Amino acid sequence: PVPAFVDGLVAKMTLAEKAGQLTIMPAAWSGGVATALNPAGNAPGFEQQLDEVRQMQLTGVFNGNGAEMARQMQSVAIKETRLKIPLLFAADVIHGHRTIFPVPVGEAASFEPDLAERTARMASYEGAASGIDWTFAPMVDIARDQRWGRTMEGAGEDVHLGVLMADARVRGFQRPDLKAIDSMMACAKHFAAYGAAEAGLDYNTVDISERTLREIYLPPFRAAVNAGVLSFMASFNEISGVPSTANEWLMRDILRGEWGFEGFVVSDYTGDMEMIDHGFAKDSREAAKLAFLAGVDMSMTSGFYRKHLPELVEAGEVPQARLDDSVRKVLAIKAALGLFDDPFRRIDVKREKARSRTKPAIALSREAGRKSIVMLKNEGDLLPLPKSGKKIAIIGPFASGKHDLNGPWVVYGGQDYAVDLAEGVRAAVADRNSVTVTAGSGVEEAIAGGIDAAVAAAQAADIVLLAIGESENMSGEAQSRAEIVVPAPQQALAEAVAATGKPVVVVLKNGRALALQGAVANAPAILVTWFLGTESGNATADVLFGEYGPAGRLPCSFPRSPGQQPFYYAHKPTGRPNPSDDKLEPYKAHYRGIPNKALYPFGHGLTYGKIEYANLQAAPTLAWDGELTVSATIANRGTRAAEEVVQLYIHDRAASITRPVRELRAFRKIKLAAGASETVTFRIKRSLLLFYGRDNKPTVEPGMFDVWIAPSAEAQGVHAQFELVKG
Ligand code: IFM
Repeated sequence: PVPAFVDGLVAKMTLAEKAGQLTIMPAAWSGGVATALNPAGNAPGFEQQLDEVRQMQLTGVFNGNGAEMARQMQSVAIKETRLKIPLLFAADVIHGHRTIFPVPVGEAASFEPDLAERTARMASYEGAASGIDWTFAPMVDIARDQRWGRTMEGAGEDVHLGVLMADARVRGFQRPDLKAIDSMMACAKHFAAYGAAEAGLDYNTVDISERTLREIYLPPFRAAVNAGVLSFMASFNEISGVPSTANEWLMRDILRGEWGFEGFVVSDYTGDMEMIDHGFAKDSREAAKLAFLAGVDMSMTSGFYRKHLPELVEAGEVPQARLDDSVRKVLAIKAALGLFDDPFRRIDVKREKARSRTKPAIALSREAGRKSIVMLKNEGDLLPLPKSGKKIAIIGPFASGKHDLNGPWVVYGGQDYAVDLAEGVRAAVADRNSVTVTAGSGVEEAIAGGIDAAVAAAQAADIVLLAIGESENMSGEAQSRAEIVVPAPQQALAEAVAATGKPVVVVLKNGRALALQGAVANAPAILVTWFLGTESGNATADVLFGEYGPAGRLPCSFPRSPGQQPFYYAHKPTGRPNPSDDKLEPYKAHYRGIPNKALYPFGHGLTYGKIEYANLQAAPTLAWDGELTVSATIANRGTRAAEEVVQLYIHDRAASITRPVRELRAFRKIKLAAGASETVTFRIKRSLLLFYGRDNKPTVEPGMFDVWIAPSAEAQGVHAQFELVKG
């Protein structure tokens, strides 16, 4: 609801002031931030930006420098402007603010939405204390092509997991209510289908059916709306010829019309300006007009709105009522954030310091870190390692050093506060001197003599921890990779170390799924450790030495070859499925010499227990308005406790629109003591079997369905079939 005083304010505003309320700019505090408009770095300095505030040309700034900057800017807005409208401070608080949590795709591997809610909450607690009212998170884009660098920023390839994580993160940022001094407004981004960029190339064209858009890419956005998100960010890409920034159908018909969204939409950085390069707008004036009329309320960085909206209204090309409506929404949200009650409510230099990297935040970073680790492989129970009696060689470019620990999209974290692998391992073992550290290789370039040194270190040790993978600037925005493999110099290092015959644990650093090959794929043990943030080394050591049993599951399928992208488990069947993975038959759907199955599928992850699935119980029919109970017994036959993510998949055998080979519909994370077992029960109703029909509307059809309760998207687990019957 829009408070009454907002209408009064709007009535007093000039056209220029209104356009200013719809303009956000990068903060200029640190002497002028280079922007796309001023690549030479001669963007406005802080004094000039304060003048813009005085003239009410800004609604706020983003990615600034904390509470002191915010205090100075807000003072000008409140004391030196005509209408005293408070500024809004925004930032990319993506996976933690000062304390850094795992990159979102890593955190999704926890399959614990509650964890994502708690880390988002903690990020708000720290971020809001730095004066930040609004975070440009969560990114809820589904990513099915691992070449896309921003895979690291979302919840992976699956719709169900994506929906749960979107919901959790929005609630985490915005709770207990927007007015609270430790809440930040969330922003669901990037609307829409940014993750569907052709060939995984960032910013690239998207051309998908309305059905795929609605069924795969939109549900997490809808979940964000249902969770109360009050801002959306338009995506850079076009969809079927129309840039999202000018897509009225998306932003007006679907977002506002169908979903009832009442917040505002901001462009992504220079998204409006980029429509000129898209070949969609002929100039800045037209770009501003197209974006605004399509439903982008606020322009970021380009300044196009404040430059053109007043004249567009005067020329009758943009209705005054539409302009007023957007201004009203922005002011209402400033009010909902409590900024009119107290513009300095989140700005407190002392509180900022007191809330930075507190003990609970560090503990949460360690908890989130270890819960995000996925154990792909553990031959001969190599892991967990003993804490004493073994010499350990940590080898690889990520063995030690304050780099590549936080991961991409960290504006305020600081690597110096993060714990590297060597520190974590040394803190865990009985004798620090039993651990050696050798880089052996750079990330993308060899080091002279590096391999010889690494081989010598491996030979002198009992066990090798091979810390290899991607650096943090190899994923994230604009970091698409054509070859999603371990870079060649590190692969050479892995081959040489493996040739020593010493047992190797690969400790993989990555922001996306990688096609693991050669000695890396053949290592007896592999841990996927993503970018875990502040407590990286400690969290990894917890898993390596069995303080914590690995419980993460892949949120994205690991392919056998980069050439398989886009690669995801919930693909459609072809008319010529290859009957078996062991035998590749001619004229069937497969690449030459490569089985279709993943190297490691979505949902996969091992524990230190020995988990068995048995005894599926399911009735043969589901009545139209009824409920079907499906249960299985999950047993831990091992000698160590384990946490298992029990997954429910379904498959519709024949429908008027072809259906994926499997779809995750539910999961449960359970704890099993050694020797224990538990019966896990899922309830299936008709609503769980929905799909988008030929009319692009949700529908369900009677017929036969498969159901699996399984430890991954490709594992057989236990299986049954049932029939949905009408009438
Ligand atoms: O929030 C980001 C977005 O995800 C990518 N472009 C820049 C924005 C603001 O920093």
